Amino acid sequence: MDFAPYIRDIEDFPTPGVVFKDITPLLKDPSAFQKAADALLGLVGNTKIDKVVGVDSRGFIFAPMLAEKLGAGFVTVRKSRKLPYKTISQSYDLEYGTGTLEIHTDAIEKGEKVLVHDDVLATGGTAQAVCKLVEKLGGEVVQCNFLIELTFLNGAEKIKGYRKEALLQF
Ligand code: PRP
Ligand code: HPA
Repeated sequence: MDFAPYIRDIEDFPTPGVVFKDITPLLKDPSAFQKAADALLGLVGNTKIDKVVGVDSRGFIFAPMLAEKLGAGFVTVRKSRKLPYKTISQSYDLEYGTGTLEIHTDAIEKGEKVLVHDDVLATGGTAQAVCKLVEKLGGEVVQCNFLIELTFLNGAEKIKGYRKEALLQF
C-alpha cells in the first residue's frame, strides 16, 4: 500500500520555513492505520526484541502496537520532567529547537535487544539521543524504525551506527 497520499504537508509549522509532515490523515483512516502498523512490523527483522522504545509524543502511537505484536515490553522516552521515577537524561538538537529526553533507569536491562520507534526521522537528533539513552542503560539498539524519513535533513548520518528502516521517504 502507498501511504504517501495519507501524509499532509503543512507549511510554516511549527515555525516559519518548516514544511511539517502531518500524519493525522493516515491515523484517522481505519484501513491505512492498521496497514501502516502491519508494514512497520514488517520492517523489523527476525531478532527477538525485548523492549520497544517509543519517543514522546508521536512515537507513542505505533510503538505500543509494535511491542504487543512482537511480544516485547513498551518503554517510554519522554521530554524532561515528565517521568515520575529515577531517570537519566540526554540533550539533543531539533529541526526547530533543542530539548532534553529522559528514560527511567530501570526501563531496560543490560543486554536487552531494543527496537526504537518514532514517527519521523528529521535531523536525527532525537533518534541519536534515544539510542544514547538505551546504550547508557546497557541495551542494544537492534533497529531504529520510523514511519517517515525526511531524507533531505540527513538524519540517517546521525544514526549511521544503527540499522534504520522507514516506511516512507520524502
Ligand atoms: C518530532 C518527531 C520526532 C522528532 C524528529 O517530535 O516526532 O520525535 O521531532 O526530529 P529530529 O530527527 O530532527 O530530531 P517533536 O520533538 O516535534 O515532538 P512531538 O512528537 O511531541 O510533537
Ligand atoms: N513532521 C513531523 N515531525 C517532524 C517533522 C515534520 O516535518 N520535522 C521534525 N519532526
